[in-house]
Amino acid sequence: MTSVALLGYGVVGTGVVELLERNRERLRGNNSEDISIAKILVRDKKKHSNKRYSNLLTDNIEDVFRENIDIVIEVMGGLYPAYEYVKRSLSSRKHVVTANKDLIAEHGKELLDIAKDNGVTLHFEASVGGGIPILKPLKECLVGNEIKEIKAIINGTTNFILSKMYGENMSYTEALALAQKLGFAEAKPESDVLGYDAGRKLSILSTIAYNKRIDWKSMNIEGITDIDELDFVYAKRLNSNIKLVGLSKRYGDKIYAAVKPMLVDANSTLGRIENENNAIIIEGDAVGEVVFSGKGAGMLPTASAVFSDLMDTFQQRKEEFLFNSKIAELESLWDTQSEWMLRFSGENSTQIISSLHESFSTCTTEINKISKDIVEVVSLVKVENERELNKRIGYIQSCGKTSFVKKFRKL
Ligand SMILES: NC(=O)c1ccc[n+]([C@@H]2O[C@H](COP(=O)([O-])OP(=O)(O)OC[C@H]3O[C@@H](n4cnc5c(N)ncnc54)[C@H](OP(=O)(O)O)[C@@H]3O)[C@@H](O)[C@H]2O)c1
Repeated sequence: MTSVALLGYGVVGTGVVELLERNRERLRGNNSEDISIAKILVRDKKKHSNKRYSNLLTDNIEDVFRENIDIVIEVMGGLYPAYEYVKRSLSSRKHVVTANKDLIAEHGKELLDIAKDNGVTLHFEASVGGGIPILKPLKECLVGNEIKEIKAIINGTTNFILSKMYGENMSYTEALALAQKLGFAEAKPESDVLGYDAGRKLSILSTIAYNKRIDWKSMNIEGITDIDELDFVYAKRLNSNIKLVGLSKRYGDKIYAAVKPMLVDANSTLGRIENENNAIIIEGDAVGEVVFSGKGAGMLPTASAVFSDLMDTFQQRKEEFLFNSKIAELESLWDTQSEWMLRFSGENSTQIISSLHESFSTCTTEINKISKDIVEVVSLVKVENERELNKRIGYIQSCGKTSFVKKFRKL
């Protein structure tokens, strides 16, 4: 009998119990040993009193560690006390499965090392892309490739909001309120809408893909809080959609890694990913581009990934995950030729357009009258790299009475 403890009995924890029950007969049919739940840790036992296994609930972590547990499933979320509980579990030779990207992005290296030192495993498939199998395929099926680039929509909340802004012409505020009403955004949505959640997930993916540690806090991260209806009006004229894209790319010894709202062709793979769905495109030198897409969150999709880790642990399929101790040197600016949509505003459109043409050899412009005195000039430009782009934006601003509004890279 394999004994499991669940730390957390919320959305994902409930899904994991559901999948354990659904698969129990099949597991027995395979002559596998049985899996039993020994304890379930929650904050408030009363909240869960009508659920299955309510007799196993505890609000005291010591009750969990008193049991003879083989596998700890951490689905409580947050950094603390999850970090302490996972560390203690691994140090006392218990395997751990977690869905916690905050924990892995912050302490993954240390925790994987503790697991190795203690001869146990730490699995975290659900921490990136929810139900989409991505970490295991990256580590195992794509092992013969040098990964060149990752492009990903890895935050369901922001993709839901942007989809409503694109498809139903909602404002950011309206789309966020709808996402909160439908349970796709939390009451405190900062981690999602400011891009931090996508940054943590991109750092986990990239750390595995490039075998160098990518610290999410050193990445260039921009959220979607400044995206307005006009951005979508202009994007649509370019047959494009706006998506929050996590992008990392190998540049020689350096890695470019950033999370930003980007213009993507409306009919492209990323352009067609709707609502809370996620998609990850990985480019390997042997395989070319492969696309992984599906539900990036939700009770059963996320539990599906946790359950698969549980099965790997249970069946002792012991492939080893380790994060390299070498920290990657990050490139913060896009370093190759690219197209950008630029927005400038001012009183004199002729002057803005002439300085745009002076600065960029390839450049289309369009004028939009915002008020009696203010016009916007929207331009699609081609430039050698982002450093050059920033220099030229500076020059256009210096030509007088011109404000730079924003820029979007076109993927
Ligand atoms: N939800 C998703 O779709 C999804 C997708 C991918 C990854 N994840 C990750 O999965 C993890 C769990 O997410 P979730 O949506 O299931 O969260 P959730 O619904 O808020 O559930 C969290 C559970 O953990 C318990 N808990 C939290 N802090 C605790 C503490 N200090 N002591 C004891 N119990 C504590 C809560 O107890 P009470 O119920 O008593 O408050 C609750 O049962 C997170 O790391 C999240 O990022 C979630």
